[in-house]
Amino acid sequence: MNMAMEKINLESIKKRAENEIRKSKNLNELNDVYKLYLGKKGELSLVLRSLKKMLKVRKVRIGKKANKLKDLLEEKIAKKTIKIKEKARIDGRKGDLFDITIPGKKPVVGHLHPLTQTKGRVEEIFQSMGFSVVEGPEAETEWYNFDALNIPKNHPTRDLWDTFYLKDGNLLRTHTSPVQIRYMEKNQPPLRIIIPGRVFRHEATDAGHEINFYHIEGLMVDKKISVGSFKAIIKEFFKRFFEKDIKIRLRPCYFPFTEPSFEIDCSCPICSGKGCSVCGVNGWVELMGAGMVHPNVFKNSGLNPKNWQGFAFGIGMDRLAMMKYKINDVRLFYGGDLRFLNQF
Ligand code: DAH
Repeated sequence: MNMAMEKINLESIKKRAENEIRKSKNLNELNDVYKLYLGKKGELSLVLRSLKKMLKVRKVRIGKKANKLKDLLEEKIAKKTIKIKEKARIDGRKGDLFDITIPGKKPVVGHLHPLTQTKGRVEEIFQSMGFSVVEGPEAETEWYNFDALNIPKNHPTRDLWDTFYLKDGNLLRTHTSPVQIRYMEKNQPPLRIIIPGRVFRHEATDAGHEINFYHIEGLMVDKKISVGSFKAIIKEFFKRFFEKDIKIRLRPCYFPFTEPSFEIDCSCPICSGKGCSVCGVNGWVELMGAGMVHPNVFKNSGLNPKNWQGFAFGIGMDRLAMMKYKINDVRLFYGGDLRFLNQF
């Protein structure tokens, strides 16, 4: 049948063409749609070409509608072309595209280990009281770790400081006390130092014991130093470290490198002395050892004990951190568990 005579359904062409344009996924498919309706033998092109054979009234009516539809389809195909090209560009660049409207991703920032934070705070407090921070070797000689500190071979207290012996005859230090000797050999009093550092013990691990942990040794030497000087300094330290008034008490004790020696308890920072699972029922926690420097320690460092007096102390850094942060197992510090570490 002649197109001029045929019933022309522009509405149907419009619907089908629009639907196919919408469905085209790439330029080839879109091109096919173009050919189908607007190409040389396209459905709409044929309608347009048949206009000249139509009667005038019909020609004007259909012609207007058909040309409008042609413009519309061309516009839709042009828009879809841009859309397909843009999508291809984005797909091609994958993640490279920078969309400023997407909320930023926060970079994961690490932080200092709770023991390092504790060390920093301890150093800060002692430095503000005129102490210098000194370090020494972790692999130590028997002389510095024991003999020079007045712990001769076969002395029973060596049992308290059982450690790992190295093949070269040295050992892993059991405390940072040897640095007292090393420092006094090279520096004349008056002196005030603290010696933070890693120490080792050969023992079974449990909630309160590790084979390696951290110590802070302290030493103050001058002409007239007394137990009173020590008490004043250490009280001030605890007050600032725990950020509250802490009561302390000195109990007589024995250390080979001090005479007299004592252990220092503080009122439990967790229950403020009322009694809890950490301190037991009595409200006191043992935190450190201390004493007046033994004359033999001065002698072994090359100083005359008649000229100098001093106090020394040793604090377990892990213990301090456990008290401050209310931690009940020392092994947590060394387990590398981020669920624990991220809490600090
Ligand atoms: N070195 C001792 C220890 O390993 C701690 C200590 C106690 C250090 C008394 C001292 C001191 O300087 O006077 O447990």
